[in-house]
Amino acid sequence: MQRLFTGLQPSGSLHIGNYLGALKQTVELLKDADGLVMIADYHALTTLKDTEQLRKNIPEVVRDYVAVGMDPKKTIIFQQSSVSQHAELAWIFDCLVTVPFLMQAHAYKDKVAKGLEANAGLFTYPMLMAADILLYDTDIVPVGADQRQHVEYAREAAAKFNTAFGETFKTPQEKILESVAVVPGTDGKKMSKSYGNTIPLFGTKEEIQKAVMSIVTDSTGDRPENVYNIHRLFKSEEELDALYTEHKGKYKALKDALVEDIEAMISPMREKRASLSDADVKEILRDGAARAREQAEKKMVDVRQKVGVSI
Ligand code: ADP
Ligand code: TRP
Repeated sequence: MQRLFTGLQPSGSLHIGNYLGALKQTVELLKDADGLVMIADYHALTTLKDTEQLRKNIPEVVRDYVAVGMDPKKTIIFQQSSVSQHAELAWIFDCLVTVPFLMQAHAYKDKVAKGLEANAGLFTYPMLMAADILLYDTDIVPVGADQRQHVEYAREAAAKFNTAFGETFKTPQEKILESVAVVPGTDGKKMSKSYGNTIPLFGTKEEIQKAVMSIVTDSTGDRPENVYNIHRLFKSEEELDALYTEHKGKYKALKDALVEDIEAMISPMREKRASLSDADVKEILRDGAARAREQAEKKMVDVRQKVGVSI
């Protein structure tokens, strides 16, 4: 079985673009893989400096993972900070790579290009991510296209270590999730939390209604394109042709139909999410951390010996 590893930063609520564009495919891949999914809380610290917010977001990600269909008995769901071997290995990688090499990283370059000051954590972010991936002999890393470079950095870190100290780390491969096309937001642009045009994945029915009713419609074409383009993700072209012909010009009825379709997808997930108690979430994280730590420590015993700190 292939080993799958992926992670999400605990940085806020998911929208249907995240689900249809990425999470759904990861859940599919997990059916035939031995998987670990991580809550990248130490990575989040590179940008988030709000104690309460971080503390609140971490269990939310666990709920999201389980609600979209991950089985915590099978897949290891864990918090990065609970397995200190990640930070430990990241330090060793930091000592192997050069400053100019890390200066090529997009996340760092973008920040500097905007005239912002990058913290040292953001600068070495790729080496912590390399440690995440490499500790577990990962084969595949399902991520969005924006994370491709980070997986390349992980391969590079593995190669540098293997050259210096002998074969230790497996070479991971990114599995870029080709989105079901880009999911458009309520204004027709790409749905993104930074544009404020999202339909929340776990919103209440009222919140979904509100978001759908705010979809921008223009009265020039035959059908409201922005509504139709989201609707396409839920129904076949034939079904939509019939529906949009029947309700031609009646935007409210079409939006109501879209709300129903989104609800049908979300409501079972929402129920699953609500069925998890705080104690369940804690138990998932406790169990996940113990299972991840055991594997990570095994790898670190070898690494410490190879670099020479185990005497
Ligand atoms: P946001 O743009 O809201 O900040 P993220 O960058 O956190 O979203 O996205 C996490 C993952 O979800 C991405 O790697 C991408 O694959 C997927 N994703 C996000 N928005 C969309 C979208 N509008 N359509 C398709 N996939 C998306
Ligand atoms: N950097 C990823 C993001 O921002 C999150 C992440 C951290 C990750 N470690 C990972 C993803 C390891 C895949 C594998 O989305």
